[in-house]
Amino acid sequence: MLLNTERSSTAAVGSIQAEQPAFLRERMDGYFRERVEKTWSGGHIMKGRRPGSHAVMLVSNDYLDFANHPAIMEAQVEVLRSRGHGLLRSGVFRNGMDPLRRFELALAQSIGCEDTVVCQSGWCANTGLIQSITGPATPVYIDMFAHMSLWEGITAAGALARPFKHNDPVSLEHMAAKHGPGVVIVDAVYSTSGSIAPLAELVAVAERHGCVLVVDESHALGVFGEHGEGLTAALGLSERVHFRTASLSKAFAARGGVVAGSARHMEYFRYESRPAIFSSCVLDHEAAGFLATLEVMRAENDRRSALHANADYLRGRLSALDYNVDDSQCQIISLVAGPEPQTMILRDALETRGVFGSVFCAPATAKNRSLVRFTVTSGMTREQLERVVAVCATIREEVGLYEWASTRKKGVRRAAASVA
Ligand SMILES: Cc1ncc(COP(=O)(O)O)c(C=O)c1O
Repeated sequence: MLLNTERSSTAAVGSIQAEQPAFLRERMDGYFRERVEKTWSGGHIMKGRRPGSHAVMLVSNDYLDFANHPAIMEAQVEVLRSRGHGLLRSGVFRNGMDPLRRFELALAQSIGCEDTVVCQSGWCANTGLIQSITGPATPVYIDMFAHMSLWEGITAAGALARPFKHNDPVSLEHMAAKHGPGVVIVDAVYSTSGSIAPLAELVAVAERHGCVLVVDESHALGVFGEHGEGLTAALGLSERVHFRTASLSKAFAARGGVVAGSARHMEYFRYESRPAIFSSCVLDHEAAGFLATLEVMRAENDRRSALHANADYLRGRLSALDYNVDDSQCQIISLVAGPEPQTMILRDALETRGVFGSVFCAPATAKNRSLVRFTVTSGMTREQLERVVAVCATIREEVGLYEWASTRKKGVRRAAASVA
């Protein structure tokens, strides 16, 4: 069919689409009516302004600023030039010591486990692992705020989710005592709030009740530990956690995911997880990039210290300005405006002044706990952070900071702020 390019793009698209049945139309109409029109007044919560060249961008998960690292780029370019993309196929056909296998073994040694398996993404690592180790008869104890990919794995397995209160080992204990041995799932660092799991206590509960423990280290790998081994290793718990997973799109600044565990578990996972079987694996130059990144991550420890110093500084300054950033214990610092229209006001107040964070709303947060997330990186300058602090100081009245539920929870009131 020839497209009439004279027509408006909407008309052209409409004219070539098959008619939608009522059930689909109603579902989509619901989104446009309830979300776009009613809640966002015809705008879109995820679509703010375009950042100018001097904007301060607090939106990246590249926590150690590896995206332009010469050694990492060179490692990838070298493989691309000499071998191109290599073989495009599912990982189940791999057999031998290719660059990916070398990375899997090097990472295992670095974080203190027997083996790892690289996946196409953190999403695939989590859905594939949970799908392959749980089933309809398995109780799955999952932290209420665990990443959506872990919940999706439970759905894929047809297992029953038994959520426990966020970061609450006592809540887990009650559930496990009632329902028996199962799989416990937590994030090491929670991606919306920056809270850190009480891993030692959770391990103890899991052990007492004969449970398998899965820890998603996505926002902790590269960030915690002497050489970035992650939270489990930093706390000396590597031998007591059955499975660790991670996205490589955070501190590794790449695209990929990983599952870590015993050699036997990993051999099982490689051939039993559906994303590992039914989706093509990462490419050779990406694997070469992972390997180079691991080396740099272990060697350039100053980046990690700078990251923590920057995060501590910004968190402290925002807290002094009455923002409730109490949940954050790391490089993720969120301003919880609450209802979505309030978060849009916050987004606009920040962006018009050249400060850009990431908006999080349902289904990533509870409906009335939407927020703007700042992620700090190692390479940010004090000057940039000062700009963020100055903007956050200026906008407090405009964004209604003292009316936010999160501010009231912190117990600060406007009067105290104006005196300060
Ligand atoms: C905690 C956590 N796990 C898993 C993922 C999924 O990772 P990826 O983007 O590599 O699919 C993310 C990314 O949003 C995450 O924050």
